[in-house]
Amino acid sequence: MEKGLFITFEGCDGCGKTTQLELLAKYLNTQGFSVITTREPGAKGLGVQLREILLNYDGEVSSNCESFLFLADRAQHIDTIVKPAIYQGKIVLCDRHIDSTAAYQGYGRGLDIDQINYLNNIATSGLKPNLTLLFDVDTETSMARVGKNKDRMESAGIEFQEKVRRGYLELAKAEPKRIRVFDSRKTIEQLHQEVLGTIAPLL
Ligand code: TYD
Repeated sequence: MEKGLFITFEGCDGCGKTTQLELLAKYLNTQGFSVITTREPGAKGLGVQLREILLNYDGEVSSNCESFLFLADRAQHIDTIVKPAIYQGKIVLCDRHIDSTAAYQGYGRGLDIDQINYLNNIATSGLKPNLTLLFDVDTETSMARVGKNKDRMESAGIEFQEKVRRGYLELAKAEPKRIRVFDSRKTIEQLHQEVLGTIAPLL
């Protein structure tokens, strides 16, 4: 039986979601909630090794292989970290999750979205986030924030990043109740206040 809360943070590289995740975690801690922060890919253990391959392997990686590696990381993450925490009544704040695979491998790499949804569902055993905060940023700003030291995914090119951004917005349109869009041009404090307003009804 579900007891805790599962909130995911999504957006293109350099959108500011990690800063918002940390601010929210701090706030919830001061309010006395039991919170864990985690991420995909590569929260812990086996996932860390999968992350290393996904972000730094410099040979050819097929799109299907890439998807399955992200999904393998997700299955391990959900089973060993997220579910146990939720069952203990904790609030789980997760940096990237199912929508990253839909946006990057589906819209970005061009894999079939229905198949990605199907595979995501297997990887998570059907567990869905209670809420997803999507930080929308234009591609130019996103790439400028990433800078010169790009990992394998960030090096996929500007057109790829554009497709990912559009993909995310499509996902939000399809599930407006779960996926809330924030405009990353706002200041960190403005965004934090908006995030607090959005999560308040869940607490
Ligand atoms: P990370 O350094 O965690 O990026 P960020 O700080 O922007 O979250 O790198 C994760 C990268 O992997 C990022 O470029 C998005 C990509 N990714 C996918 O392509 N598919 C996925 O399912 C996930 C979880 C991440």
